[in-house]
Amino acid sequence: MTMQITIALTKGRILQETLPLLAAAGLEPLEDLGKSRKLIFPTNCEGVRLLLLRGVDVPTYVQHGAADMGVAGKDTLLEHHADGIYEPLDLGIARCRLMTAGVKGAVLPTGRIKVATKFVESAKRHYAAQGRQADIIKLYGAMELAPLMDLADEIVDIVDSGNTLKANGLEAREMIAYISSRLIVNKAAMKMKYQPISELIEKLSTAVAQN
Ligand code: PRP
Repeated sequence: MTMQITIALTKGRILQETLPLLAAAGLEPLEDLGKSRKLIFPTNCEGVRLLLLRGVDVPTYVQHGAADMGVAGKDTLLEHHADGIYEPLDLGIARCRLMTAGVKGAVLPTGRIKVATKFVESAKRHYAAQGRQADIIKLYGAMELAPLMDLADEIVDIVDSGNTLKANGLEAREMIAYISSRLIVNKAAMKMKYQPISELIEKLSTAVAQN
């Protein structure tokens, strides 16, 4: 009997960089993921299928065992505290930084500050570690607008080239974490399907080293 392995992936930049790694590990979807409206894709390996999810949902699927493995950004994983997930491999792709940022040259008020972000947990931990009182305002995108519209004194956001901050008159301030995509594995699946999963981790690890 062939063992079923389900791998949760996410659309966008992470997918574009993940597919060549999977291919180098011998795993290829049977159709173009970018061109289909489907969400479940069979692969050239019998029993192995791919799921296409929203990035924030990847750890949830893996935590509950609805997917055996997945690829998720460290930014997403830092927000999602879950037992039951291993993070065995840094794929070294979709690299960026999680940083605080604010209006260029503006001085932070003393006392409580307002921080707008999608990354609530990372922001809370960062300001708490600094001993700074911060009221966190949850946003879902376009964080750069918040300081410009006086919604917040600072934002916590992903910085890659820095162009988005620059284009909006903002400056990066403190570094919170280096981000890259990670392979995650459901702990129970790791035990039950040890052989095929550890083999795939091994092959991916070789592909990462050669990338
Ligand atoms: C991220 C982030 C910034 C931008 C930074 O957004 O939120 O807007 O990238 O990149 P830069 O430093 O190279 O300008 P992303 O495109 O990942 O989309 P998102 O809004 O869904 O987070």
